Amino acid sequence: MANVAVIGAQWGDEGKGKVVDWLASRADIVVRFQGGHNAGHTLVVGNQTYKLSLLPSGLVRGKLGIIGNGVVVDPEALLAEIARVRTQGLSVTPETLRLADNATLILPLHSAIDRARETARGDRKIGTTGRGIGPAYEDKVGRRAIRVCDLAEPETLSEKLDELLLHHNTLLAGLGAETFEKQALLDDLLRLAPQILPYAEPVWERLDEARRAGRRILFEGAQAVMLDNDHGTYPFVTSSNTVAATAASGSGIGPSAIGFVLGIAKAYTTRVGSGPFPTELHDATGQLLGERGREFGTVTGRKRRCGWFDACMVRQAVKTGGIHGLVLTKLDVLDGLPELNICVGYQVGGETLRHLPAGQRAQAAATPIYETMQGWSGTSGGARSWAELPAQAIKYVRRIEELVEAPITVVSTGPERDDTIMVRDPFED
Ligand code: IMP
Repeated sequence: MANVAVIGAQWGDEGKGKVVDWLASRADIVVRFQGGHNAGHTLVVGNQTYKLSLLPSGLVRGKLGIIGNGVVVDPEALLAEIARVRTQGLSVTPETLRLADNATLILPLHSAIDRARETARGDRKIGTTGRGIGPAYEDKVGRRAIRVCDLAEPETLSEKLDELLLHHNTLLAGLGAETFEKQALLDDLLRLAPQILPYAEPVWERLDEARRAGRRILFEGAQAVMLDNDHGTYPFVTSSNTVAATAASGSGIGPSAIGFVLGIAKAYTTRVGSGPFPTELHDATGQLLGERGREFGTVTGRKRRCGWFDACMVRQAVKTGGIHGLVLTKLDVLDGLPELNICVGYQVGGETLRHLPAGQRAQAAATPIYETMQGWSGTSGGARSWAELPAQAIKYVRRIEELVEAPITVVSTGPERDDTIMVRDPFED
């Protein structure tokens, strides 16, 4: 298979950045296909640390980066990120970055609505990143969104702003938040247009050419399957589809071009934001995982909730996400724990289930059924072959593989790029 799609198999922050960076060095093109600047990837290359939000990771490796139509793009955030990485010596030009002309734009009113709604939700808040992602996707399906191509048509911009403001100012006023002036928004968009438009094109055409020329395309997912708008823990999800199928619709390429789907899962579980988390640990072990795993959000700096590995959830992500093989990350964080629990089922109202139920209350009530495994005393940190792993750590990985019903193709054992045990090369699969 020539192409690879990388997606998260839990609630995000599984360490996709390191994996995508490793694969990007062997790809020709890297494509973002959903999400927006709610994502955060940290890449360490040599003595530079790049924090990317919207830019495809391949840019760091000198590869062509494409932002697909499925991404919601905040033009100010995009330009700020380009300016930031340029100061680190990275070349981002219309030759190295292409932006789908039919991608949806995020405007300042979207983050205002996002935050006002979260405040109004009180205790029932979703814990969004506050970046306007949800409201921008709502405008897209509501057929009122301003898209990248509209920046070239001032009259269209003006008409669309009228419609947008009618909708959003009504909402903002109802929520007691400040409303927006059309002229200021229009002036801003017209000021940004000449900076954004040089990157814009019908990217589907470039991808079609690349595909026919046998170029290797890497599709870089953001967030993760359990945050998918359909398949995740709704409503505590993001507003896009995060499954691998979206790589096709979110970039304008047929589903057969996606190739190998690589899912990324941590050897334990974390989550930021609100919502159900059956295996969450509120004790010293949870605290330890958070400290050792440095579990703080890249985008918002929020402390991540930590818990045991949930094999039911990852199995569900494997099936709904279309995952062919898994990368298990941060195995070294579990070093030295005397015992480990893996969730193999849920007890919900007297019933035993092997999947998370769809209902909100049922999800909240799901109690994990654990299988306990002995931990390992040696260290798995930095291991680069199976032979370097403690025997119990191998057993843990093998048990996970059985339970989630997907082969583990890579095990990551530390933050360095080479702290990796590769079982199979996804580009060669
Ligand atoms: P939104 O995507 O900002 O609307 O946030 C919706 C939910 O997705 C919240 O629980 C966020 O914490 C979560 N979320 C969004 N982006 C990421 C990410 O990149 N990593 C982990 N969680 C995320």
